[in-house]
Amino acid sequence: MKKDWYRNAIFYELNVRAFRDSNGDGKGDIPGVIEKLDYLKDLGVDCLWLLPMYPSPLKDDGYDIADFMHIHPDFGTVEDFKHLMDEAHKRDMYVVADLVLNHTSDQHYWFQAALKDPTSPYKDYYVWSKTGKEYGDTRIIFLDTEPSNWSFCPEVGEFYWHRFYASQPDLNYDNPAVQEEMLNTMRYWASLGLDGFRADAVPYLFEREGTICENLPETHQYLKKVRRVLDAEFPGRILLAEANQWPDDVREYFGDGDEFNMAFHFPLMPRIFMAMKKGDPTPIRWALDKTPAIPDGCQWCTFLRNHDELTLEMVTPEERDYMWQQYAPDPKMKLNLGIRRRLAPLMDNNIEKMKQANAILFSLPGTPIIYYGDEIGMGDNIDLFDRNGVRTPMQWAADLPNAGFSEASQTYAPVINIAPYSPRHVNVAGQQNDPSSFLNFMKHLVKLRKERPYLAESSIQFLDTTSPATLCVVREAEGQRMIALHNLGDSNAYVTFRADLGFSPKIELLTGTPVNPGLKTIRLAPHQSAWLE
Ligand code: NOJ
Repeated sequence: MKKDWYRNAIFYELNVRAFRDSNGDGKGDIPGVIEKLDYLKDLGVDCLWLLPMYPSPLKDDGYDIADFMHIHPDFGTVEDFKHLMDEAHKRDMYVVADLVLNHTSDQHYWFQAALKDPTSPYKDYYVWSKTGKEYGDTRIIFLDTEPSNWSFCPEVGEFYWHRFYASQPDLNYDNPAVQEEMLNTMRYWASLGLDGFRADAVPYLFEREGTICENLPETHQYLKKVRRVLDAEFPGRILLAEANQWPDDVREYFGDGDEFNMAFHFPLMPRIFMAMKKGDPTPIRWALDKTPAIPDGCQWCTFLRNHDELTLEMVTPEERDYMWQQYAPDPKMKLNLGIRRRLAPLMDNNIEKMKQANAILFSLPGTPIIYYGDEIGMGDNIDLFDRNGVRTPMQWAADLPNAGFSEASQTYAPVINIAPYSPRHVNVAGQQNDPSSFLNFMKHLVKLRKERPYLAESSIQFLDTTSPATLCVVREAEGQRMIALHNLGDSNAYVTFRADLGFSPKIELLTGTPVNPGLKTIRLAPHQSAWLE
């Protein structure tokens, strides 16, 4: 393991169920992921993030875990999992997976034992109330489906606490046995070779009356313990925080470098979309200006899309309305406080915009994550329930059954089959053979980025130019410098730098075109980006 490998890396998020079905049962599986590792390696991926693949009734696509210590039979076996670790490591790739600390499925035997026998020690694994009135200041996250964070349990005659679906009771972290069980869960998967954990929903572990039950000191204390155990017993493995919070609150999850190694940058993400729609760099500059410094060895994880709705929790109500107006014209596209669409449809399936969104992300500090399928511009299906519309089968080929995902007559979810997103238009094989494809652009971008570790560092400067629609960032480190220009507008931009640049770029990296010496003004087409080095 290279020290701090995650600080300059390309992550790739994938759902085992959606990637490749190796045994023809219509559901993706771990051997299927192994089949496709060479594809991921070729794309330049350094680390896979696997969504939960544990036994589960799949009411929240696996985030409702019924058994922390096994693999869901649809997806394979623990042996398959070990094989995947070996095959990934052989290719110098790392693998992280979800560690869902906050809750279990109501089908977990701990919860079932509590229902059967209220005197069972497992009852105290969960959070109960006789009235269902406590912690009234706590917001509801799944607003569209859950009327309350409490649900009544007739078997026990009490209410139980849940921050997500009612089928996902929250664990009681005031119980030391729960704390230990979850450390053991982490130990188990680390001992099988996993390189780290994407820790789900970490702000919500403890509850305290009179608070919003998020980001509590007790929660941070426990997470620091998780880190201590991981460092002591599995040195070099990493923890990545899913804390959908404002920058100052997320900052706390890095501690003094003794809590998480990485955390997602939630406030930046919607502002990239906002800036591109407004033709105005202000939202992106705002997000980065507000980004606090983080301890040495820590890193932000930056992303455009993931398996959830495009969350609009970290924007103001006005900004949220703007985003909904612009990006969710059909009410079916909205979900909770977000938008359940994929990158390509959000970008009007316009390849220049898709390229630009990624060229922006990759020109900023942090470690970028690619969401499976977005590297080929896959579409979504808003007729599917909840977030399932952005979790459809990966499209490998135009001319194979189910786009090469599966040989089964029926798949866990339908392959997208409406132009311009059907396999005939969007698939890996076709794009691999086309030098001007989006996939080949992504490969190029990944390569440019990885060859320049300084782009992952935190230092960034914004330059004012004569074009108000252009985002201009300067990234530099010893002896190396790049100016990234992003024309966010719908018309041509003529960019003249207001100050003397103090260096003369030699090459535009995205296209590989030499730059004329003495360059003063650059013309950028609508939604064109240029990386000048
Ligand atoms: C965050 C995950 O990303 C989401 O998919 C899930 O529904 C919730 N946590 C609950 O586990």
